[in-house]
Amino acid sequence: MCGIVGYTGHDNARDIIIDGLKKLEYRGYDSAGIALLSKGELIVRKQKGKIVNLEKEIADENLQGTTGIGHTRWATHGVPSDLNAHPHTNEDGTIAIVHNGIVENYMDLRKWLIEEHHVSFRTDTDSEVIAHLISVLNEGNLEDAVLAAVKMMKGAYAFAAISKSEPGKIVAFRKDAPLIAGLGKGCNFIASDIPALLKYLNKIYLIENGELVICTPEQIQILDQQKQPVKRDVLQVTWSLEDAEKEGYEHFMLKEIHEQPKAIRETLMRRLDERGKVKLDGISLTLEDLERFNKIYIVACGTAYHAGLVGKYIIEKMARIPVEVDVASEFRYRDPFVDDKTLFIAISQSGETLDTLAALREAKRKGARVLSVVNVVGSSVARESDDVFYTWAGPEIAVASTKAYTTQLICLYLIGLYMGDLRGTISDSYYHSVLQELKAVPEKVSAIIERANEIEELAKYLYNRDQVFFIGRGTDSAVAYEGSLKLKEVSYINSFAIAAGELKHGTIALMEPETIVIALATQDALFDKMYSNIVEVKARLAHVVSIAKEGNDRIGQESTEVIFIPECIDEVTPLLSVIPLQLFAYYVARERGEDIDKPRNLAKSVTVE
Ligand code: F6R
Repeated sequence: MCGIVGYTGHDNARDIIIDGLKKLEYRGYDSAGIALLSKGELIVRKQKGKIVNLEKEIADENLQGTTGIGHTRWATHGVPSDLNAHPHTNEDGTIAIVHNGIVENYMDLRKWLIEEHHVSFRTDTDSEVIAHLISVLNEGNLEDAVLAAVKMMKGAYAFAAISKSEPGKIVAFRKDAPLIAGLGKGCNFIASDIPALLKYLNKIYLIENGELVICTPEQIQILDQQKQPVKRDVLQVTWSLEDAEKEGYEHFMLKEIHEQPKAIRETLMRRLDERGKVKLDGISLTLEDLERFNKIYIVACGTAYHAGLVGKYIIEKMARIPVEVDVASEFRYRDPFVDDKTLFIAISQSGETLDTLAALREAKRKGARVLSVVNVVGSSVARESDDVFYTWAGPEIAVASTKAYTTQLICLYLIGLYMGDLRGTISDSYYHSVLQELKAVPEKVSAIIERANEIEELAKYLYNRDQVFFIGRGTDSAVAYEGSLKLKEVSYINSFAIAAGELKHGTIALMEPETIVIALATQDALFDKMYSNIVEVKARLAHVVSIAKEGNDRIGQESTEVIFIPECIDEVTPLLSVIPLQLFAYYVARERGEDIDKPRNLAKSVTVE
């Protein structure tokens, strides 16, 4: 969703801000803009479409300025257009703002500004009210005006403002939308997200809800709404610039698929102690806690939800505690049975997904203990949880989630093993054998990736179909949902996933000669049942691509093609079987010439409902 970058220092703010915005492109956007304080003037340039359009627009202008703010917009209120793009200004063009989030009461504020202050609005956005509010409430300095404005605003937002009369200063405010401040050398920054700043610094402040930031080249001040200084520790960022660059790969999605062996290893090894046992370091989950929990809710959205579906199988099997998995947007509105005997596990790569955050708050309000599985350190989900289990995937830039998913799975396995061990619901030998299998996963993932050309060939053959079905049983059904989502989001092919046993209750009606069915058949314990489902669709002359473990010599009899994954125990197949599906989605989208890293209508971080 929208991205914000602000710079104040001594270099050309234009280039630094545009560079930062490019690093936020992955969040999804439809227009971009920049405002600079330049030689006593406030200059605003904005353009519908990609950042390159904006660059072209300003290429011949010698825009100078050492303070500025920039924005990538993901339209919510008002169509994507030059006019609705940010920054927005007050009527006389002396104040500019960029905004991420939604001002929920913008209609009331608009009415008030028109009736009481005769303001004329130029755009259809909710954001424009912020510039006018700051302007009409400005009686001295920008920070007081911003604080007065936020008292009137409702919603979830982060925004930054600059004023012609206060050169060198950026004032930003956060309420329920991501905002960080970055400490440079002789310069300072604000941004929505870490990748925007990685080229320039590795020390940041995480800004909390209800906090105001005043940024000048010399210092960053964080104040609360009573203007009292807030003391905040500096966070040292461990991600490198290379993590956020393509490094020779054609797309971030392909790079991130290839990064999985490393990311899985990192996530796993950081949670194993010298005896080779799971360590929770800083997370307190005692036996007493576990005996108290009578239910676990896993709540998330999209791919993270699919990781949760696998998590249910794993945790129930190992810890023998009932687990319910829910999409966050449903959970929060259905008055779920949550109390102080509930463990609530939120899963989120970004840690900023509004639905997940709202569900977490609802669970907390009802007394649940909250443990989150998060990739972005210091994100909102992480900060609002009682405990955090970080994935060590590094920044995930492609909109389609890959390495976040597999590292989320690793966390869920570790949680399951830890709980099972503590509760005595698994034996020592089982515990160690699963850990051994998990340790072997990075190499097995590499082995699958090395055979990517087989999947590329398959994609070349199948890329122009208009419908694909994914079927599976047990954890294979969870992976089927993920494979289907991957394919539809990057290739725009209509894909559909279903638990294989459900086929004959309706969906099999759609099987015709040459219908593509991707059948996950990796579960030894369920193989015979799954085989029957494959036979059923094959009998309708479907084109069946099966995914099975090496050494399975029955699967070929009824499949048109088979993709083999290395031998492993049933429990860990989701970590392997998803890899060919990610590659398949990628290569199909590439054959179709789609914008793989930034699929249409999608945003990386969904910070609105
Ligand atoms: C799909 C995808 C999305 C996200 C979902 C949740 O590839 O990336 O479905 O998984 O929007 O995002 P996070 O994990 O950031 O909460």
